[in-house]
Amino acid sequence: MIGAGNVAQRHARVLSGFADVEIIGVTDVVTPAAEALATTCGAPALPDAAALLSLQPDAVYVCVPPFAHGHAEEAVLASGAALFVEKPLAVDLAVPTRVAAEVARRGTLTAVGHHWRYLDVVRTAAQLLADRPVRLVNGVWWDKVPPVAWWIRSDRSGGPVVEQAAHVVDLARALVGPVTAVYAAGTGAPPPVPDADVDAATAATLIFAGGTVGTISSACVLGWKQRAGLEIVADGLAMYVGEDELVVRDESGQERRIPGDPDAARVAVDRAFVDAVRGIGDDIRVPYAEALETHRVTCAIAESVRTGQVVTLAPPASSVTAASELAPTASVATGGTAAVGAAVPGGAAGPASSVTAAGQVAPTASPAAPGGAAGIPAPRTEPTPAGRDGHGGTTAARPPGISRHRAT
Ligand SMILES: NC(=O)c1ccc[n+]([C@@H]2O[C@H](COP(=O)([O-])OP(=O)(O)OC[C@H]3O[C@@H](n4cnc5c(N)ncnc54)[C@H](O)[C@@H]3O)[C@@H](O)[C@H]2O)c1
Repeated sequence: MIGAGNVAQRHARVLSGFADVEIIGVTDVVTPAAEALATTCGAPALPDAAALLSLQPDAVYVCVPPFAHGHAEEAVLASGAALFVEKPLAVDLAVPTRVAAEVARRGTLTAVGHHWRYLDVVRTAAQLLADRPVRLVNGVWWDKVPPVAWWIRSDRSGGPVVEQAAHVVDLARALVGPVTAVYAAGTGAPPPVPDADVDAATAATLIFAGGTVGTISSACVLGWKQRAGLEIVADGLAMYVGEDELVVRDESGQERRIPGDPDAARVAVDRAFVDAVRGIGDDIRVPYAEALETHRVTCAIAESVRTGQVVTLAPPASSVTAASELAPTASVATGGTAAVGAAVPGGAAGPASSVTAAGQVAPTASPAAPGGAAGIPAPRTEPTPAGRDGHGGTTAARPPGISRHRAT
C-alpha cells in the first residue's frame, strides 16, 4: 500500500479478509501513518515506494491524495506490478495522461476505486434503461467538507467536482455514455472553513454524445451528507440511483425502492482486482483508461468554471480495453496466494512483455446507445476455463445494451 490514510485503511481491511491476499508492505510520507497501518496488517512499514517495490509485489494500491499522484504510479508501472489507484487520478490531466500512456504501452493490469460500478442497484438501473432512451440526468453531491486538510485547497484536491462528484459523473457516463461538452459555474466563494479556496458550490450542464442533456451540482457547505446520486429521466421511466438505494417509477405509477449495499460494492471492487491479478477473474469495471475518461469530464467542468467557457470533449482517438488490461502479468500467483504490496515466493513481478500482445488498443467506440451501460455486467452465469476468453476470465450474459467494457 502506498498511502496509509482513510481509504488505504479501508482497502487494507477488505483485503485482509481475503484468504488469498497477503499485505506485505505499507509506505506513507508520514511515517507514523505507515507504521499504524502496517501494524494492523502485520506488515512492515517501508520508508518509500522504492523500498516497497523491492519486495516485488504482485500488485500495489496507490491511495494518496489527488495532488500526490504521479511518481508512485510510475514506479509501480516500472516494477511490472499491477496497479490499483484511488480516484481521482490527480488534480488535473497532466499526470493521468502520462500514466495512461505508460499503462497502455506496458499493458499493465489496472483498476481504479470507482466502486459504485459494483453496486447491484447500478446494474439494475442499467438493465431498466436498456431499451429506453435516457433524455435527462441530474447528478448531485451535496455534503460537508471532508475532514482531510488537503480537500479545501483546489491545487491539492482538484476541487469538489474532481474529488467527490467524480463518482456521480462516472455513474452518468456508465449509464448514458460519453460526455461531449460541459458548461459550469462556481460560487467563486469558498465554504466557511479557514484557508479554503474551493468553490462552496458548483453547477454544471453536460451534453452527452447521444443527445442526452444533464446537470451536475456539488455543494460542500453542510454538516452532513444530504444527497449523492443521479436522477435519470428516460422515456416513461424516472429513477434515482445512489449508493444506498435505487428509486424507480414507471407508467404503472408505482414507486419501487430497492436498497443499495455500498459495503458490498467496496468489497467487490477489491475482489475483482485481486481475481484479475490472480488470473481467475475478469470483472474490472474501471481500468485506468476508463477512469481517465471520467476524469476528463470532471476536469472539463473545473476548466469551464475557471474560464467561463463551454469546454468540448473530443472522443478519445483510441482507448485501451479493459480486456487487454486484464491480461495477467507474470507475477500472478498460480493457485496460491496473491500478495498485494507483497512478494510471492516464486512470483516476482513480471515484465510488461508478459501482457498479451494482441488487441492492446481497441478502436474508438461509437457513442453508447441510449441506455447503454459501460462496465456494468449482468450477473456472472457462465464460468469459462482460464484462457478461453483470452484472459482467463469468465463470460457474463448481459442484457442488450450493456457491454462489459466500453472502449471509449
Ligand atoms: N473510492 C472511495 O470511496 C474513496 C473514499 C475515500 C477516499 N478516496 C480517495 O482516496 C484518496 C485518499 O483519500 P484519503 O481519505 O485516504 O486521504 P488521507 O489524507 O486520509 O490519506 C492519504 C495518505 O496519503 C499519504 N501521502 C501523501 N502523499 C504521499 C506520497 N507521495 N506517498 C505516500 N503517501 C502519501 C498521506 O500522508 C496520507 O496518510 C483521495 O483521492 C480520495 O478521493 C476514495
